Amino acid sequence: MSTFSIGDTEFLRDGRPHQIISGAIHYFRVHPDQWQDRIRKARLMGLNTVETYVAWNAHEPRRGEWDATGWNDLGRFLDLVREEGMDAIVRPGPYICAEWHNGGLPTWLAADENTLRTSDPAYLADVADYLRRVYEIVAPRQIQHGGPVVLVQIENEYGAYGSDREYLEELVRITKDSGISVPLTTVDQPVDRMLADGSLAGLHRTGSFGSRIPERLATLREHQATGPLMCSEFWDGWFDWWGGVHHTTEVATVAEDLDALLAAGASVNIYMFHGGTNFGLTNGANHKGRYLPLVTSYDYDAPLDEAGNPTEKYYALRDVIAKHAPVPDELPEPAVPAPSFTVPLRNIGTWTDAGTAAPASAEHPATFDALEHLSALVRYDVELPELSAPATLTVEDARDLAWVRVDGQSIGILARTRHDHTITVPPGKILSILVEDQGRVNYGPRLGEEKGLIGTPLLNGDPLRGWRSTPLDVAATAAVITARDTEASAESEAGAAPSAWIGEFELPDASDLFLDTAGWGKGYAFMNGFFLGRYWRNGPQRTLYIPAPAARRETNRLVVLELEHLLKPRAQFLPGLELGDREE
Ligand code: GLA
Repeated sequence: MSTFSIGDTEFLRDGRPHQIISGAIHYFRVHPDQWQDRIRKARLMGLNTVETYVAWNAHEPRRGEWDATGWNDLGRFLDLVREEGMDAIVRPGPYICAEWHNGGLPTWLAADENTLRTSDPAYLADVADYLRRVYEIVAPRQIQHGGPVVLVQIENEYGAYGSDREYLEELVRITKDSGISVPLTTVDQPVDRMLADGSLAGLHRTGSFGSRIPERLATLREHQATGPLMCSEFWDGWFDWWGGVHHTTEVATVAEDLDALLAAGASVNIYMFHGGTNFGLTNGANHKGRYLPLVTSYDYDAPLDEAGNPTEKYYALRDVIAKHAPVPDELPEPAVPAPSFTVPLRNIGTWTDAGTAAPASAEHPATFDALEHLSALVRYDVELPELSAPATLTVEDARDLAWVRVDGQSIGILARTRHDHTITVPPGKILSILVEDQGRVNYGPRLGEEKGLIGTPLLNGDPLRGWRSTPLDVAATAAVITARDTEASAESEAGAAPSAWIGEFELPDASDLFLDTAGWGKGYAFMNGFFLGRYWRNGPQRTLYIPAPAARRETNRLVVLELEHLLKPRAQFLPGLELGDREE
């Protein structure tokens, strides 16, 4: 029987001093047919451990509909880590941040935004059910039972959010009651207050940081006199938001910092080793005074890029690790360029007119949450009073982007990122506002906030009542289009927005593809029914990654749901990732 424990200054694996050299891979951001490949490449870089969060809202998007199969098969992911001869670290949250929508918390939680991540009994009851389900998978896979799991983390950077000790105590109680007996850790930014509030006696404190290594390790030591030093999130890159730049880090600096950590004898989890993709509608957002939704790619400028190919950083970090630990001689295959070709797209007409679920009629607009709607769009329609002149429409908040029309004519956009709250409305009969949820905030006090039209809109200061709120499920819409015999459908005029487009093509082999979205406006793309994610001409991201398992040799069907305009009615495929302009 193997053991894993905390010694005076080191981790002890089977009683012997052990330095964890780990890298993060989130199974929910990687196609399950590619898990083994990514884990193997982690071992080849010299890592001895793979770390993953668990995303509650991926497993249980609707209350009680728990899923641990396919993309959610955490057990299989951990078994693959074991088969590779590596250890695993599991961080089940329930809050994970991770630039993942709502920081991993489901939108159906009984708690409201004020009681999330507290000892509120309603919230804790839901959390207990969730954690028990996760630990049913994790407990038998702990190292003492022959599995890979050596550490489990409690919450995530809790000290940056709250100070409810009872909440942390309860998480620990549930964890231990569920048969978890490997050491329990917490992670916090190396700030005194956060390190103090984010942990409890009996939990091993670790830090999250990507620079100033000696100083950060010293701060960590001040808060914990004994036990191994560990950086649980060594930030080797960063995430991107729409309209921003593509963040990259200097390879030499990252290599020096990793060297400093390992030379100090500290354990490390490289965040990220392989970032993967926010497929579908899974990206989060930040809000520090301004709402900034995150892009589809989670490349993170990690050593293994979004498509699983080794980068310059991969080889540099492998060299650093080799100074401190054995590294396999074998190297991963270098990237091969993906096929480049162009496919014409056929316009198959508008797609936002019909809802995919029954509309709700009420005095006030219904939020996505009230509608229990998990997809990206809700259309709000209201009858306008007789107007003799243009009027001012004021909304409390349109979360997050709203296309406003009167009698089908576009009159403008309300963008939360721009702090838009008013728009001029001309006389007409029906006011329609199509609102997109661009991603739930994953950090800070706005966690759990509602989406859609918030409050009751005012027209020239008077409440506008009698709204019809119609949910639009973009994946369901794409599925109908993918399944339809489109040969029979008439081609319509290009340019009418919003319109759906389809392209068909064959491939010599099912390989990775990089779909160029630069000539498109804003929308969603699907390959053979697989939801690739959001695209937006705002950038910086330019290509959507299509993993090989989503492609096939025979006819492939690409469906594009465009909300604005396709400048070029064609799909172009590029040889590699194009993640946009970098900081100069
Ligand atoms: C924190 C969180 C992570 C992630 C990083 C930034 O450390 O714990 O989940 O959000 O920031 O990428």
